[in-house]
Amino acid sequence: MRIPGLIDPHVHMREPGGEHKEDWNTGTSAALAGGVTLVMAMPNTKPPVTDTVTLKAALAAASSKARCDFAGYAGAGAGNTSTVAGLAPYTAGLKMYLDQTFGDLKLNDMGDWLAHFQNWPASSPLCVHAEGPSLATAILLAELTNRPVHLCHISLRSEILLIKAAKQKDIPVTCEVTPHHLFLSQDDIPVIGPGRSEVRPRLAGRADVQALWDNLAYIDCFATDHAPHTLAEKDGENPPPGFPGLESALPLYLTAVAEGRLTLDDILLRCVTNPRRIFHLPEQADTYVEIDPSARWTFSAAHTYTRCDWSPFEGYKMTGRVMAVTLHGKTVYSDGQVLASPGYGRNVRPPLT
Ligand code: DOR
Ligand code: ZN
Ligand code: ZN
Repeated sequence: MRIPGLIDPHVHMREPGGEHKEDWNTGTSAALAGGVTLVMAMPNTKPPVTDTVTLKAALAAASSKARCDFAGYAGAGAGNTSTVAGLAPYTAGLKMYLDQTFGDLKLNDMGDWLAHFQNWPASSPLCVHAEGPSLATAILLAELTNRPVHLCHISLRSEILLIKAAKQKDIPVTCEVTPHHLFLSQDDIPVIGPGRSEVRPRLAGRADVQALWDNLAYIDCFATDHAPHTLAEKDGENPPPGFPGLESALPLYLTAVAEGRLTLDDILLRCVTNPRRIFHLPEQADTYVEIDPSARWTFSAAHTYTRCDWSPFEGYKMTGRVMAVTLHGKTVYSDGQVLASPGYGRNVRPPLT
């Protein structure tokens, strides 16, 4: 069965500065193996992407190494509130961190939050990492500045209910949910292990997970938040938060289809149609994914392309598998092999020269 290439609006490719975890080559190989043909990369790299120089460096690495299409976010900082908007046309959008997570991009001053909401063009996506009360503030700022905001990886019952209420008031918010917040809860922490289970937002309670499923109608996108860290780091002293997700996401969604919990249309709406509209993305010509919706198999990180070499979904029994991927008319993945060369992927935004 043939479906369009998936769009993942939220991945961490780690380059520059974290290439021991992932780089544009391994990360986009993982994308293709997971049926994803367009990734949008977050700016919490080392150094973070906050200005022309750092954006150019990140996009240069992507252009030479990416095997699937891509765009890169700029990061909102305390020092770029009046300048970063100039980069908007060349980016996936602006990413604002209102709460602490991996990296140094957390914005502490609410005045800076407001300034970025006011200054970033309303025609370009603005994405926020905002949990609990910060999420409520982000919704208020969308209303006050009358501009769209995309709420990343929401995980709680209280959050989806707030988003539902905001949407009913026509406040211009959209949101995404990750596969780990849909398919895992706190109950899985003993199985996965405490260090490996670290992720932001944290795995939630079962009632939270159920509330996400009950309110699927208000969830615009599925996004992996593919956030690879090595096993040594996850099992070490200070485990960094984050899960790999690109290679397990579509199999998990297809398994949910086989179980009658999702439809294929539910997936395509949230992984193709809605992200394309929300993030103003071009259609990818001659691009599709061949899936076998009834293939039964066991997921193992040993057979993945991500450099991080582990998965919270290790040993999961899946129904539904990616068999082949065609990108711009060329077979780029088939029979478990990535066939696209590094650099085959295209930046879907205009080049920053
Ligand atoms: O768990 C997470 N890891 N959440 C984030 O917001 C950032 C990400 C990362 O970059 O590792
Ligand atoms: Zn985040
Ligand atoms: Zn993220």
